[in-house]
Amino acid sequence: MINFSEKYGKWVLITGASSGIGEEFARKFSELGLNVILIARRFDRLLKLKNELESKFQNIVLPIEVDLSENNFYEKIENQINDKEIGILINNAGFGYRKDFIESNIDDNVKMVKVNCIAPVILTHKILPKMIERKKGALIFLGSIVAFQPTPTTAVYAATKAFDAYLGDALWYELKKHNIDVVTVNPGGTETEFHLVAKSTMGPFPRTSRNVVDTTLKALGKKPSVVDGFYNKILAVSSRLISRKLTITLAGKISESLYQSK
Ligand SMILES: NC(=O)c1ccc[n+]([C@@H]2O[C@H](COP(=O)([O-])OP(=O)(O)OC[C@H]3O[C@@H](n4cnc5c(N)ncnc54)[C@H](OP(=O)(O)O)[C@@H]3O)[C@@H](O)[C@H]2O)c1
Repeated sequence: MINFSEKYGKWVLITGASSGIGEEFARKFSELGLNVILIARRFDRLLKLKNELESKFQNIVLPIEVDLSENNFYEKIENQINDKEIGILINNAGFGYRKDFIESNIDDNVKMVKVNCIAPVILTHKILPKMIERKKGALIFLGSIVAFQPTPTTAVYAATKAFDAYLGDALWYELKKHNIDVVTVNPGGTETEFHLVAKSTMGPFPRTSRNVVDTTLKALGKKPSVVDGFYNKILAVSSRLISRKLTITLAGKISESLYQSK
């Protein structure tokens, strides 16, 4: 069993920790004895989680209310995290929705790009230098099975997830020489609030947040990326075996069916 605190550092910073996969990462790392910094907009949720975790485990939980779509979001957290030895950064916060691109709201699309892509770039760039100095650390990115192919009716979201997956995969290579582990986890439909926000259904064989967290931690330090769940692995592989035209068409059909059956 890996001692995560020794291997990476005492603190884990998790964006999007007020629900779903981020909340589950907070539980898991608390169980493992690490201190956690929880970031999201819904502060009441973060406080509730802090109380729960600190009463069960011997760790410190620091909740920070931040909207990651704001241009100056990092200034709001900087002085609260600066003195902490952040060993693991989990770029988890994200949202999407299903709609034809032309019917979607431009402000929502821009916000999505900021939360799903710009915020991970800024946070990673700010937090990495100290990891490099300490010669240890880990980065976790949240991709998706929609990162493997363009996906009509959720075009911008799929593009943001491809961005996250490419960023994570490239950093896996760049940061090896600094002894920093990077993994991108690509979940398929997972039982979280994501689908309420996205106005979508989960599709067949939904997975749990705990499944996604366990899959991630198994892959961390071993490979650049991982797909969560057997069915999702088949979807990811098949998108590489058939033509681009057919891949996009099938992705569109599946995505439309998830939208219509809500
Ligand atoms: N669930 C799935 O089927 C699925 C599949 C593939 C990939 N993913 C990825 O998994 C990650 C986690 O999603 P989830 O499924 O756990 O969904 P979720 O339950 O809806 O959680 C999303 C989290 O992101 C936070 N967030 C959203 N907008 C934010 C903002 N502007 N500023 C700060 N925090 C913000 C939310 O917190 P607040 O609302 O409190 O701010 C929440 O904690 C996402 O990156 C998503 O793309 C999910």
